[in-house]
Amino acid sequence: MVVLGIESSCDETAVGIVQDGCILRANVVLSSMDLHAAYGGVVPEIAARSHIEAITTVVAQALEQADCTWDDIDAIAVTYGAGLGGSLLIGVLTARTLAITKGKPLYAINHVEAHVYANFITSTALPGYALQAAPPQFPIVALIASGGHSQLVLWRGHFDYTLLGQTQDDAVGEAFDKVAKIIGLPYPGGPSVEKKAKEGNAHAYALPKAKMDGKYDFSFSGLKTAVLRAAQNAIGEDFRFASKNLPERLSEAQKADIAASFQRVAVETVVDKAIRAFEEFGPASVVIAGGVAASPELRRQLSERLPIPITYTDFKLCTDNGAMVAALGCYQAMRGQPVADPYTLDIAPNLSM
Ligand code: KG4
Ligand code: ZN
Repeated sequence: MVVLGIESSCDETAVGIVQDGCILRANVVLSSMDLHAAYGGVVPEIAARSHIEAITTVVAQALEQADCTWDDIDAIAVTYGAGLGGSLLIGVLTARTLAITKGKPLYAINHVEAHVYANFITSTALPGYALQAAPPQFPIVALIASGGHSQLVLWRGHFDYTLLGQTQDDAVGEAFDKVAKIIGLPYPGGPSVEKKAKEGNAHAYALPKAKMDGKYDFSFSGLKTAVLRAAQNAIGEDFRFASKNLPERLSEAQKADIAASFQRVAVETVVDKAIRAFEEFGPASVVIAGGVAASPELRRQLSERLPIPITYTDFKLCTDNGAMVAALGCYQAMRGQPVADPYTLDIAPNLSM
């Protein structure tokens, strides 16, 4: 079963080809990130236009990388939600057109579920990938942490899962992005906070962890505000000081300490809940997924605190990519899940789990 997966929910135009749900044949990702950096966040209109310009080339490159022709592709999978409407539309229309013209079955994929399936990819002939040696075993506790999502999910089997909890406000990646902006680090915030944090003291600032009613729910807006107050305080100003003027007043050492303290607490917040879920449900595996799964601090804290060994997939499969979409598409096809109608499949920007 060879599936071509298309991902265009945000700023990455991505196509992956996966065989049998576990063999990575191609993973081509073209990001329009550089075009958004000047604005400090993704601009939906620019993202959508970039997808239009890139998508056919990215599909062709993926086929070439996998050394495939359309005859070798058994099915097409596409992210239909959640995401930016204009961006999703380009991927979905491309997938629908290809499904019709090439005569392939079409599978509609939930972006957040797909992130988890990046962990099922275990082998490749492509250079430069560090993959897990074996797929995770059910039941699985999955921590999904990205720019748009922070969720804790219990997976009992393929297509059989329960949402345990989720963020009540910002996603964890979004908190990284906003904190980066406060202290004047470039977008996207995750990698730039991570880099700056290396020079700082993670205990320099006492930042709060939100106490939530829901046992497995998260909140990051209070932490973000606490970072803002700590930064204002660090330069001897109060809450009236405009945040846009903070970066020029903060020293590099203060920025590094704030980045390190924030990163420690943000990661602890999600790891606390993941450990709690582990203790309650005793899963066979724990996996992390989404852009923040690329965080070495998250990997370090989880490995340290989990009583079972945990393995992590390649950084390139943590952030948005088409291979995760293709991997989930393979499982849908191999396990007889319903196909989508290529003449009517619509986008679902607010799709939840
Ligand atoms: O999964 P993803 O590529 O896109 C969404 O579906 O949202 O995740 C992007 C998010 C961004 O917020 C980015 O700041 C964050 O993942 N991220 C990280 C790291 N690398 C990316 N956060 C923390 N540490 C990192 N190393
Ligand atoms: Zn994502």
